[in-house]
Amino acid sequence: MKHTGVLISFEGIDGSGKSTQAQLLKEYFAERKVTVVFVREPGGTKAAEAIRDVLLHNKNLPMADFTELMLFLAARADLVDKVIEPALRHGRVVIADRFADSTFAYQAYGRGINLKLVKQLNETATRGVKPDLTFLVDLPEREAHQRLKRQKDRMESMGTTFHQSVRLGFRKLAAAEPRRIKVLDGRRREEEIWNEILRITLQFLRRSKIELPEQFWR
Ligand code: TMP
Repeated sequence: MKHTGVLISFEGIDGSGKSTQAQLLKEYFAERKVTVVFVREPGGTKAAEAIRDVLLHNKNLPMADFTELMLFLAARADLVDKVIEPALRHGRVVIADRFADSTFAYQAYGRGINLKLVKQLNETATRGVKPDLTFLVDLPEREAHQRLKRQKDRMESMGTTFHQSVRLGFRKLAAAEPRRIKVLDGRRREEEIWNEILRITLQFLRRSKIELPEQFWR
């Protein structure tokens, strides 16, 4: 699909602080009167939010790995079809709190489903939509786990070993695509991480074809 918008995704294990950073980027655009489309995965449409409930609720523990994979992809297919693809076609900036790399990290590296298969199925579900820029907030799983003070959902309740594999998975994905996936040391202060994200984003936007109003650059 040819489009003029850009898709920026945020990734990381649970408790890494990626959602805070994604929100900061959204606010940065809003303060400069640029409307962005902000989505979180799984979710973002009626059907995808309903699927999110099924996926994250503790009452649905355990779930077959393949069922879990297909549900994440089903939610993504709806979000891409109804929200992301139309926004990109209209030249918008889309910020996603998680996207396909989460599926590769959690369902392939975490659950052990064949990565090639997961990539093929994801390609079908997303019709080839890929992030242009991805921030991976990387943090040791123990530190991330300690940050999760609220009651843990079905995915978060998985043990340290699972999250270790997921973290390793994310790092492998980043090593394979260093131009797209930027690894950020999540142990630093929130502000330091944000400064790096902003610097990389502005550099990326300057080089992209996206048209942003004059006031954005002031
Ligand atoms: P959240 O806590 O960032 O809202 O994400 C929901 C949970 O779902 C989180 O534990 C990561 C997990 N997840 C997957 O396992 N596969 C996916 O494809 C996505 C998008 C999320």
